[in-house]
Amino acid sequence: MNTPLLEIDRLTVGFAEPRRVLVDEVSLSVDAGSATALVGESGSGKTLSMLAVMGLLPPGISVLGGAARLGGVDLLSLPPRARRRMNGSRVALIPQDAMAALNPTLDIQSQFELVLRAHQRIGGSAARARTIELLDQVGIPSAASRLRSYPHEFSGGQRQRVMIALALSCGPELLIADEPTTALDVTIQQQILDLVARLREEIDMTVLWITHDLGVVAGLADRVAVLRHGRMVESGTAEQIFYRPAQPYTRQLLAATPTLFDPDPELDPGPGPAPGDPVEAGTEA
Ligand SMILES: Nc1ncnc2c1ncn2[C@@H]1O[C@H](COP(=O)(O)OP(=O)(O)O)[C@@H](O)[C@H]1O
Ligand SMILES: [Mg+2]
Repeated sequence: MNTPLLEIDRLTVGFAEPRRVLVDEVSLSVDAGSATALVGESGSGKTLSMLAVMGLLPPGISVLGGAARLGGVDLLSLPPRARRRMNGSRVALIPQDAMAALNPTLDIQSQFELVLRAHQRIGGSAARARTIELLDQVGIPSAASRLRSYPHEFSGGQRQRVMIALALSCGPELLIADEPTTALDVTIQQQILDLVARLREEIDMTVLWITHDLGVVAGLADRVAVLRHGRMVESGTAEQIFYRPAQPYTRQLLAATPTLFDPDPELDPGPGPAPGDPVEAGTEA
């Protein structure tokens, strides 16, 4: 058995004092070369788990227990400098909101230059050439003429493409895509998903998809892990999770994804809520 590229082991994240656990002993293993999906409703702890891995947790929230290893390296005990070097060069994150992640006061070329200089020690014309190459790769038309444009001059879909190019700029082994398309129109969403899937093939990268929508990762992920209320519900191959889910909650999530199976409510009322589950308005419709 190969060591997984990313190994999260009973990771617990939350407020220390007074103690409030938001991510509770979550374990997840991502094999090199795989496309793994971490799925769960909004608020289930997906983003916090990833921010913990990247060492980017918001103030007040910290890792309370467990471990996270990337290529066998214990991320949680790395000194901050080494940690920052790891981000970008070995693991990169595409966030939900590209507008918030890009610097609105810098043109595109300057943002790439900052990253390329810091991580790869390339600047000047080499950085410019690399930026054009990256923008081409993610499908920004006439990339060379867009270098002096600012983030607000791009459409939402193009901004997300720029964000992806920036994430790829240092050749990360692991790309974490945290709901990369939620802010986009449906047609643009699909283009961005296809782009990441194509890049994954082209540059031999491992992708961890984060989404609240199982429909989004059907066909994209080969392994799926389901998170609920900060706890891991189940994980397995996409085939297992989509066709033979073991947990009632996973079946519920599947049933709530009409784009996926177009369930006929007459024939298949789906599993009812588990005992003690809050019944959400609209699920019976
Ligand atoms: N900065 C924060 N301060 C307080 N609570 C937070 C903060 N960020 C997230 N949480 C809480 O942690 C839980 C998990 O959040 P998050 O990881 O963002 O969920 P997801 O990404 O699955 O939607 C939620 O209950 C959320 O309200
Ligand atoms: Mg999130």
